[in-house]
Amino acid sequence: MSDFTIRLATAEDLEAIRAIYNYYVERSTCTYQVEPDTAAERAAWFRDRSAKYPATVAERDGAVIGWGALSPWKSRCGYAWSAEASVYIHHEHHRRGLGKALLLDLIARGRAAGLHTIIGATSSDQTASLALQVSVGFEVIGTHREVGRKFDRWLDVTYTQLMLAER
Ligand SMILES: CC(C)(COP(=O)(O)OP(=O)(O)OC[C@H]1O[C@@H](n2cnc3c(N)ncnc32)[C@H](O)[C@@H]1OP(=O)(O)O)[C@@H](O)C(=O)NCCC(=O)NCCS
Repeated sequence: MSDFTIRLATAEDLEAIRAIYNYYVERSTCTYQVEPDTAAERAAWFRDRSAKYPATVAERDGAVIGWGALSPWKSRCGYAWSAEASVYIHHEHHRRGLGKALLLDLIARGRAAGLHTIIGATSSDQTASLALQVSVGFEVIGTHREVGRKFDRWLDVTYTQLMLAER
C-alpha cells in the first residue's frame, strides 16, 4: 500500500511545485529552462490548467513531494486531442513509485477528459525519465538531434507517445 496520496493541485501547492521544479532548473537537463521559475510564472501556468490539462500533486504527511501536469502539445486547434506530460519528484524521494503513480494518474485523467494521445519530449540523456515512460506503456517514436542546449552541451530530444483511444 502506498503512503502517499495524489490529488489535483491547488494554489496553495504552487510554492512547493516551484521549489521541486527549480531544483532541476539549476542542475539538470530534464528541463531546458535555465532561469528559475518565478512565483508569477507558476501562477500563470496554474491559471491555464483545466480538466484536460490538469496539475496534480503527490502528498505525504501533508507535504507535497512530487507533481505532474498535462499541457497542450501545440496551440493550433487541430492538436486539441494531444497533450504533453510532465512529472517532477522531489530529489530526496526518487525510486519510491511516486513518478509512476503520478504518470498513471495523469493518463487516467487525460483519457477521462477525451484526450487521444499523450506525448513525452525528453532530453535523451534523461534515462530515468525515459525508463519511467516506457514502464507505463509509452513507445519511443524518434529523436531530434541537438535541438537543445544547456550547460554548454548540445542535447538530443527523444519523443515518446502513448495512444489513449480504444482502437
Ligand atoms: C523521472 C522521475 C520522475 C522518476 O520518478 P520516480 O518516482 O523516481 O520513479 P518511480 O519510483 O515511480 O519509478 C518507476 C519506474 O521508472 C523507472 N525508473 C525510475 N527512475 C529510474 C532510474 N533512475 N533509472 C532507471 N529507471 C528508472 C523504473 O522502470 C521504475 O520502476 P522500478 O522502480 O520498478 O524499477 C524522477 O527521477 C524525477 O523527478 N526526475 C527529474 C524530473 C524529470 O526527469 N521529469 C521528467 C519525467 S516525465
